[in-house]
Amino acid sequence: MQFFDALWDDYARMAPHAAGLRRALEDRGETVVNDHVAFRTYGCGPLALEAREPELLALGYRRHSPYEFPDKGLRAWGYVHDHGPRVFLSELVLDTLPSPARALVERLCASAEGASLRAGRPWPPVAIAEYRQLLAASEYAAWVAAFGLRANHFTISVNALRGFPTLESLLDFVEAQGFRLNESGGRVKGSPEVLLEQGSTLADVVPVDFADGVLEIPSCYYEFARRYPGPDGSLYDGFVPASASRIFESTDVGGRVGRPAG
Ligand code: NI
Repeated sequence: MQFFDALWDDYARMAPHAAGLRRALEDRGETVVNDHVAFRTYGCGPLALEAREPELLALGYRRHSPYEFPDKGLRAWGYVHDHGPRVFLSELVLDTLPSPARALVERLCASAEGASLRAGRPWPPVAIAEYRQLLAASEYAAWVAAFGLRANHFTISVNALRGFPTLESLLDFVEAQGFRLNESGGRVKGSPEVLLEQGSTLADVVPVDFADGVLEIPSCYYEFARRYPGPDGSLYDGFVPASASRIFESTDVGGRVGRPAG
């Protein structure tokens, strides 16, 4: 789908390591298939999940399952398509933010009318102090303020690879290529029992323009998913909240956040 080609080009600029990893797999003769693509948004006005969803439905997507992440103040829907990757669309529930951070997010939402899921950041850059204020309240809130609407991650389908029979074998390859993995909750999240195993890299740290300067902050990461067949014999199409909650932390790189660029 052309929609994903344009998203990938933007994502590859945000996460050069992902483009490098895909090339390394293709150089070994692998065909890289997307298991799912994930988006982050704010649960208000034109950015809310319900307001963004029609863009996916118009592409032929169908709702699959809803998800809740109360510890992170997030909710999400998974979507499926007969001829495209699954989509995971999450949003920040604004009620969970302290009021100054919430007022800032509402200001950003008010300037995002007409934005699409490929819009990038649809508002003028926020100040560094505002970014830090959001970061203290919610890493997710700060990420959306800095990067806006774009692919947060693409996901390699382990099932579609020929030379990597397990997720572990792919993660070994990823590390041997020099890429860092998200180890929150262990390298592998999930299990055959829940029909889904996932892992991911840590997001690249890239320079981003703010209203009053440039900061190096985590951008986008690459995820890996191995799916198992359910009772009906077809591959599981859903997501596992306990695993996804840890995967969200792939953009949370602690001390690497928010250094001045240079
Ligand atoms: Ni994902």
